[in-house]
Amino acid sequence: MQLNIYKDYQSLSESTANTLIETVISNPTAVLCLATGDTPKLTYELLVNKAIERKVDFSRCTFIGLDEWVGIPPRIEGSCRFFLQSRIFGPLNIQESQVHLFDGMSHDPRDECSRMDDAIVTKGGIDLMLVGVGVNGHIGFNEPGAGTDVYSHLVDLHGITQSVGQKYFTGIVQIKQGLTLGFKTILQSKKLIMIANGLKKAAVMQKALEEEITTDVPAGLVRAHPFCWTVLDEEAASLLNLQILPEEIVMGHIKAT
Ligand code: GLP
Repeated sequence: MQLNIYKDYQSLSESTANTLIETVISNPTAVLCLATGDTPKLTYELLVNKAIERKVDFSRCTFIGLDEWVGIPPRIEGSCRFFLQSRIFGPLNIQESQVHLFDGMSHDPRDECSRMDDAIVTKGGIDLMLVGVGVNGHIGFNEPGAGTDVYSHLVDLHGITQSVGQKYFTGIVQIKQGLTLGFKTILQSKKLIMIANGLKKAAVMQKALEEEITTDVPAGLVRAHPFCWTVLDEEAASLLNLQILPEEIVMGHIKAT
């Protein structure tokens, strides 16, 4: 795993947006899985601006959803679908046929998970996955203690995820369960970028990157991925002891292709 540390959120986001753009320029049929959440908001804003400015063609890309809240309709602003539609798909004129997202309103979660897993297989796997990290170390909705041997699945959300998740909604909502891609899919993605910014992520990033790899801190499991970049700002990296990083972690820049 390579670790990249940027001065601030702006430069982290610029770099990540550039990587996404270069990925699509070099592979116009790329299969992308892009996380929601506060962390990648600026990345997506910059991505859209750069894509429009440089006339990058996204019309043959495929977009795979990472996760979704169960019971939250797509018209609600806090839903992952609403987030991606308003920040990426709408501005880049991405067609519905290019998009595969979890339906959080599905009455058959198992079927919903199979539908997502089948879509990923049909598309030949995910070329680039961009994930954020929850303050409890989750990735997608793979909560602490999550299995590594799982594809898409229904999750009972951790108490921290239920309370922190309220920030995405305008009123108080019941968010007890989620649908998520599993760690099998995350670790099988051809390239994985994990991003985190701010002091609130410093403690969890220290655990994920420097302590023993354990399912208690799912973000640390990405260290086993052969093509993974962890991209932090200085605040999120502030508790790391960079002199004695675990041997599988090296400092390095993201390669777009
Ligand atoms: C959310 C999502 C994740 C996201 C993470 C971090 O609950 N399920 O996909 O990456 O938590 O969120 P944020 O970027 O808002 O800190």
